[in-house]
Amino acid sequence: MKHLISPSLLSADFANLKEDIDMVNRSNADWFHIDIMDGVFVPNISFGFPVLTAISRYAKKPLDVHLMIVEPDRYLQQFKDCGAHTITVHYEACTHLHRTIQAIKDVGCKAGVALNPHTPVAFLSEVIGDLDLVLIMSVNPGFGGQKFIENTYEKIRQLIAMASAKNESLLIEVDGGINLGNASDLLKAGADVLVAGNAIFAAKNPEAVIDELKNIAVS
Ligand code: DX5
Ligand code: ZN
Repeated sequence: MKHLISPSLLSADFANLKEDIDMVNRSNADWFHIDIMDGVFVPNISFGFPVLTAISRYAKKPLDVHLMIVEPDRYLQQFKDCGAHTITVHYEACTHLHRTIQAIKDVGCKAGVALNPHTPVAFLSEVIGDLDLVLIMSVNPGFGGQKFIENTYEKIRQLIAMASAKNESLLIEVDGGINLGNASDLLKAGADVLVAGNAIFAAKNPEAVIDELKNIAVS
């Protein structure tokens, strides 16, 4: 499968959001990455349902919703109603992760789990067969534009080893500090979905960066 590109709207221009949505619609990107932060699970607040509803009115590609919030179960139906295609919750935010994964599927979304940089991949061994996606955080969540953590490559390899035995269709998404300098190595290591915020939206020509990320050849 050709890898997927999921531009993070966190780095978009919120005063001209529709222009950035249209740019992603036109581009070679596959998904919209939507970062929801609650100021409790992470030390930052991003945006909520009214903005997400507005995004989904214009977005023509699946909404890849990354919930950096505590107690995500309380809001799954609302995220689905706002247009979420995939809902990814944090391992560290879910006491009853197995139940939460089932609840995401029950509302009709694809189910993902994100791992903070300090959380071992092995902690997913009992649920990996139930997941559509695992998101490996390659920065500490909360902010765009941070430095990529190199240990991510090792985690991708461990996840591939685990998934090859238990879930061959699992998508491996990587999020944080991704740019044209490390994207190729991430794909070689086995990433399926690359999230990029700053590298795309701070560029002079965001559409061209998306194109370059999408066209990286992986042999
Ligand atoms: C970080 C978010 C990321 C972030 C990525 O907490 O989950 O999706 O927006 O932005 P860059 O690519 O700038 O690191
Ligand atoms: Zn994210």
